[in-house]
Amino acid sequence: MSVALVTGAAGGIGAAVAERLAQEHAVLLTDVDPVRLAAVSAKLFADGAAVAHAVCDVSERSSVQAAFDAAEEQLGEITAVANVARIGGVLTEFTELSEKDWGRTFVVNTRGTFLVCQEFVRRRAGRPGAIVAVGSIGARPGLYPAGQRHGLRSPRAPRPLPAPRRQPGRPGAAQGPPRV
Ligand SMILES: NC(=O)c1ccc[n+]([C@@H]2O[C@H](COP(=O)([O-])OP(=O)(O)OC[C@H]3O[C@@H](n4cnc5c(N)ncnc54)[C@H](O)[C@@H]3O)[C@@H](O)[C@H]2O)c1
Repeated sequence: MSVALVTGAAGGIGAAVAERLAQEHAVLLTDVDPVRLAAVSAKLFADGAAVAHAVCDVSERSSVQAAFDAAEEQLGEITAVANVARIGGVLTEFTELSEKDWGRTFVVNTRGTFLVCQEFVRRRAGRPGAIVAVGSIGARPGLYPAGQRHGLRSPRAPRPLPAPRRQPGRPGAAQGPPRV
């Protein structure tokens, strides 16, 4: 049986990911919140799933390493990781957002994902494995909406990429990268 490690498994999407994975794999549920984590893990265990849990702060390398050690000890070698842990950041006006709050978001959401993936790849060393990293579609527009909201004008507003051009006589074949 393969073993998946899920971060943020006490949260809405993390718990759902863990539940789905537990239908086919052993799962180590991890989260920084010990109370909600234990509750989610207990429910899956009661349903007959092969699960264990370990408190893990993804922003700390030692905590990530300890979670991998716990998984290997209790369930076996990890063959997949799902990075779902996140903090939502502070919802405020862009001009009011503090450097500290901006930095904390990156420490958890970005460095956390990096640390988990790096630990996994180091341990997996050339053998097959799967990595999932969950993000938000809200990250795609970047800073453009924030600038626009505060009255900035962009000479080049984002626009959708055009569809690739088709070669006559060759249905489905694109002629090369589209010009933007
Ligand atoms: N909720 C949505 O509508 C939605 C939509 C699209 C994408 N997403 C993405 O899905 C992911 C999860 O979203 P969610 O709604 O389940 O969030 P959530 O807040 O319900 O869950 C996040 C979990 O991460 C945990 N966490 C926070 N800091 C941590 C840390 N340092 N180490 C380990 N765990 C930590 C929290 O305790 C929490 O249980 C995010 O990446 C989010 O951007 C969410």
